[in-house]
Amino acid sequence: MTLPSKRILLIISGGIAAYKSLDLIRRLRERGASVRVILTKAAQQFVTPLAAGAIAGERAFTDLFDAVTEFDIGHIRLARDCDLVVVAPATADLMAKMAGGHADDLASTVLLATDRPILIAPAMNPVMWSHKATARNLAQLQTDGVKTVGPNAGEMAESGEAGTGRMAEPLEIVAAIERLLAAVDGPRGILSGQSILVTSGPTHEAIDPVRYLANRSSGKQGHAIARAAAEAGAAVTLVSGPVKLPDPPGMKVIHVESARAMLAAVEAGLPADAAVFAAAVADWRVAEAGTQKTKKTTAGPPTLSLVENPDILATVAKRKTDRPRLVVGFAAETERVVEYARAKLARKGCDWIVANDVSKESGVMGGDRNTVHLVTARGIEAWPSQSKEEVARALVARIAEALKVPTAPVK
Ligand code: C5P
Repeated sequence: MTLPSKRILLIISGGIAAYKSLDLIRRLRERGASVRVILTKAAQQFVTPLAAGAIAGERAFTDLFDAVTEFDIGHIRLARDCDLVVVAPATADLMAKMAGGHADDLASTVLLATDRPILIAPAMNPVMWSHKATARNLAQLQTDGVKTVGPNAGEMAESGEAGTGRMAEPLEIVAAIERLLAAVDGPRGILSGQSILVTSGPTHEAIDPVRYLANRSSGKQGHAIARAAAEAGAAVTLVSGPVKLPDPPGMKVIHVESARAMLAAVEAGLPADAAVFAAAVADWRVAEAGTQKTKKTTAGPPTLSLVENPDILATVAKRKTDRPRLVVGFAAETERVVEYARAKLARKGCDWIVANDVSKESGVMGGDRNTVHLVTARGIEAWPSQSKEEVARALVARIAEALKVPTAPVK
């Protein structure tokens, strides 16, 4: 659970995307959050208070001057008894009211009365979104500290309309909420007292003193994980293959070239509470690397005889002593991503696999974004497409959650 006992106040305003907010409620509750819902009058044209209340597990609120509500809870308590206010969908009209400080219904009054962080997920017709008035209101809201997620580009509900204006998908909104609450709680601290070992980057396997076998890993994802873990207060050891990235601050960085050197550095880095193997280790190395540069001869190209490299992840996952409580592997696949990841989980003996699609079309290799699935013994989670930093922070939040249980092995 990534949002245990978090209290979200969800304001649904009137747009066709409101139906997606019902799924958002479910996703938030799945993650341990409690959700209290306010519907504007227009929202009720799209979803009913009964449906929203049934999914939230408590009645939804609609009226400012409802005697029962005011006695029972009151708009000020609605505004304050939460950790975060989320407006999804946020219409152009509600954004305008927020920017202007209006308070003529329950939603706008609560938004004015709250001292909690506010996240909005705008959704509207592309022309309305790009209108100068909306841009002005958005700029004002951002100045006021309101955070936004989306809107995305794509097809609109109206036939023939496309452009930017689609509400962010529920899982993207969930990821934004997790990030925002982690920032409010302070990522610092969630891993304090824990030691985390991370491998990152490719390995270079020497053919001779000037040539090597390698792969396209940039190390961006592994380094981002190490950085996020350090920011969360962990004592981090980063074992990095050759990359073009600077060493992240606040951690021990060990530079290696080959898989065998990486394994030795990892073993020297144990014990650790958790280990994340994000490196793209070369599967093979040349059986006998030349000690001098191999010369071109008339006899034709040399034959390279390859031998298998040690599997660092499997070696650590199968250790009898000093096995980290949580061993996380990565699976970079170009096809059947989840199926292969599941098999890998069993074969390697690790606890979690972060599976990502590295097919050419995905643009993950060397890129800044990543779309991953988290595969655990409990099941598979599809995470939204996000930056590698966001994937790192979300993974660190999950690791912190898993390590909270004092001694039990993590599943
Ligand atoms: O088998 P495959 O290379 O796809 O497995 C990927 C996972 O295993 C990654 O977590 C990678 O860091 C790890 N691995 C390793 N040592 C190897 C090969 C892969 O640690 N020799």
